[in-house]
Amino acid sequence: MAVLPIAKLGNPILRKIAEPVSIEELLSEGFQLFIDDMIETMRAKDGVGLAAPQVFQSKQLVVIESHLNPRYTEAPEISLLVLVNPLFTFLSPEKVEGWEGCLSVDNLRGKVKRSKKTALKALDRKGEKIEIETDTFLAVILQHEIDHLHGRLFVDQISDVTSLSQLEEFNRYALGNKEQIPVA
Ligand code: NI
Repeated sequence: MAVLPIAKLGNPILRKIAEPVSIEELLSEGFQLFIDDMIETMRAKDGVGLAAPQVFQSKQLVVIESHLNPRYTEAPEISLLVLVNPLFTFLSPEKVEGWEGCLSVDNLRGKVKRSKKTALKALDRKGEKIEIETDTFLAVILQHEIDHLHGRLFVDQISDVTSLSQLEEFNRYALGNKEQIPVA
C-alpha cells in the first residue's frame, strides 16, 4: 500500500472526463491494489472522499469514508464506500448550501449549493451492483466526488463567490476558531 501524490488545481487531469472501469480491469490485482492505495491516501490526507483523477488516474472510481473526529465536529459516521462507475439516478431540485474544501485545492473553502437528496447506482470493488439513496451529508460528498469524475471542481460552483476564503481566515471568521470542515 502507498500514499499517492495528489493532483492540484490547474493540473489538466482534474478537468478530464474519467473513463469507465470494465469488470475485468476492476477485478485485476493491479486495480484492487490501486483501490487500497486510494483508501490509504484518503485516510493519510484526512479526507472524507477521494476520486481517482485526484491521484492522476482518469478512472471512474471514488472512495468515501468519514469518522467522528474532534477536528470535524460536523462530520458524520460514514463507513467505507468504494464506488465504481457511479451514476446518479436522482438529484433533488431542492438544494442545501454548505462549506466545501478539496484535497486538490489547497487552503480554500467556499459555499456550494448541492441537491439535498440523491440516488445513485454503482459497482462495489467486487463488481456487485449497489444502490444508494441519501439525504444526509453523504449526498453532498457524493456530488463533490462524482463531479471530480466529470472534470468539475467545487470552485466552479461556488454559490456565493464572496464566500471564497483562505483557510486561515475561514477558520477565524467563518467558523470562529471552533471547528474544521471535512475536505474531499
Ligand atoms: Ni475534491
